This record gives sequence, C-alpha cells and structure tokens, in this order.
Amino acid sequence: MNSTGTPRHFLSIDDFSHAELRGMLNQAGALKARLKDGDRPQLLKDKVLAMIFERQSTRTRVSFDVGMRQLGGQTIMLSGQEMQLSREETLADTAQVMSRYVDAIMIRILSHADLLELAEAATVPVINGLTRRAHPCQIMADLLTFEEHRGDIKGAKVTWVGDSNNVLHSWVNAAELFGCELTISVPEEYSPEKDLKEDIKRAGSAVRMVEDPREAVEGADLVITDTWVSMGDTDAAERRRILKPYQVNTNLMALANKDALFMHCLPAHRGDEVTDEVIDGPQSVVFDEAENRLHAQKAVLCWAFGVET
Ligand code: CP
Repeated sequence: MNSTGTPRHFLSIDDFSHAELRGMLNQAGALKARLKDGDRPQLLKDKVLAMIFERQSTRTRVSFDVGMRQLGGQTIMLSGQEMQLSREETLADTAQVMSRYVDAIMIRILSHADLLELAEAATVPVINGLTRRAHPCQIMADLLTFEEHRGDIKGAKVTWVGDSNNVLHSWVNAAELFGCELTISVPEEYSPEKDLKEDIKRAGSAVRMVEDPREAVEGADLVITDTWVSMGDTDAAERRRILKPYQVNTNLMALANKDALFMHCLPAHRGDEVTDEVIDGPQSVVFDEAENRLHAQKAVLCWAFGVET
C-alpha cells in the first residue's frame, strides 16, 4: 500500500527501483535455500491469490500455484473464458468485485492497456503474469538464474537474438536498472515497437542494436532467445522464414565467451529458434531458469503482501 491507501502492483520492473528489485532477488534466493533445507515458512497463511489466464500457460500457472501452497496460501485458477469478462463485464468491475474476495490477483492478458485498466480499479495488489509489453516475473527468474551461476549481473554482456517481444522488453528495463550491457539483434521486419524503442532510448549506452546476430553474440556472457511465434501471432510460416538466420545453434554459441550461458524462457520450439545441441548442452540453464520462476515469484508474492521473510 502507498500513503493514499491504494496498493502497489507488480506490472513491470521499470516501476521499481534497483534496491527494491535487489531486495526481492535476495529474498528469492533465501526462500530457495530454505526450501532446499525443508523449511516452508507459512508467510502467506490463509491468503488467497486469484489467477486469471486469458491464454495458455504451464510455468506461470504451476509455479504461482505451488509457490502459494508452499507459503501456506491458496489459489483460485480462472480462465478468461469461464469469467463474465468473456461476456463483456468490464475489467474495472471485475477488478472491484475480485478485490472483495481475494487478497491479490495475478493475471495473464495480452493487452497491457487492459492490465493497466484492471490494476487501476483493483484495491488489492495485481501481478502481471505476461502481457505483450512485459513479462516481469520471467525477468526476475532470469536475473536470479544468471547471478546464481555467474555472480552480479552488473557489467555482464547479455545478447538477445531473435524476435522482439515482451521478454526482450523486460530485459531492456533490466539492463538499465542492473547495469548490464544488452546487445539486441532482431530482423528489421520485427524491429521494436514504439514503447520498446522509447525504453531502449532511455536505457542509453546500456542497450545497443546490432544487425548481424553473429556480431551481436561475439564475447557474450549470456545468450538469450525466445519462441519466434508468440501468443497471438498468426503469421508463423513467415516468421520462421525471416527469423531463420537468428537461430541459436552451436556455430552461433561458439562466438560467445566459452563459459557463456544460454537462456530461453520456454516453451521452446526446438529446431526453430534453438537447436537441441544448444538447449540440451552444457551452457544451457533453461531448466534452472524455469525452476526459478517459483522462487522469484514467491519473493514477489511476499512483497505484494507486505510480508518480511
Ligand atoms: N515462460 C512462461 O511464461 O511460460 P508459460 O507460458 O508456460 O507460463
């Protein structure tokens, strides 16, 4: 809650200071260590999180549900289709009604404007489970994963290759907040949209765009890609054709530092954006990254509920 009594939401990491995000990452690491010791602090006992999904999810659904259970709380899982939202009840009305029942709302909805509309009317904290603009829970897991393997991300060389999407947008925000050097290589057909372009500009020297994916990967400490066909995209064949030169394969990874990590938020389309050799290879940390969704989100939940660990 802020001083006016309205809750703070977790919608995009650029709404937060470095110190706040660092605090959540530290808490995520601490909760992960406690879990490995068999300690499941009941910090959210009797709290209820509503989870609304407009689209498919494996990691977000399961990790939020398990995270709430491990902390002593409960979840209600809803698809947009089974709610009156699909019969044109407004987001604002939905938010106000849900706020009378539950302690927080996690929502996956493609339109970021719709997320903001719901959050504006909610009187409980709202967590963004992915919009077209941002994937803040994913970036928290990615940062945690990099730092577990390689230490402080400040000054690290991070390269994004492939499609320009919500995870990239969150990485641009992370580069500015955490002081890593982000190099982006995306085809001009899928060059960043207006609000991502603005954030790239704001990040200044922390972010650079490079046309050639091979040049972008040279000397990288971390190489990241994502699916070429995101939720809502209807031009799969065309996207695969245009993005083919951006595939992360062993030839491309060979240009990065020899101990560079490979990340992908998953689900992966093997043989498209990444080959089996890379995603199953020794540099890949994709399953640590997926696991860390659980630990990072538990920290986000504790922050949202104002709970100290
Ligand atoms: N990375 C991610 O958000 O996975 P899901 O779509 O399975 O939730």
